[in-house]
Amino acid sequence: MFVCVCHGITDKQIQTAAREQGVGNVRDLKQLLPLGSSCGTCVQMAQDIINDVIIDESLFKEVS
Ligand code: FES
Repeated sequence: MFVCVCHGITDKQIQTAAREQGVGNVRDLKQLLPLGSSCGTCVQMAQDIINDVIIDESLFKEVS
């Protein structure tokens, strides 16, 4: 699914950045991807995706 239509950035790319490169917010993400630099409507959805990854990972850490 495209999150940032202006730059063709998908939810998978955002999830990978959060999981593997320690991205914790949209500001960090913008260092890696040009997300949000045009119309900006994708920023909130991108943050929600990052938050979901962080929540998933913290649940996983509690279990292990
Ligand atoms: S949809 Fe991301 S900048 Fe426009």
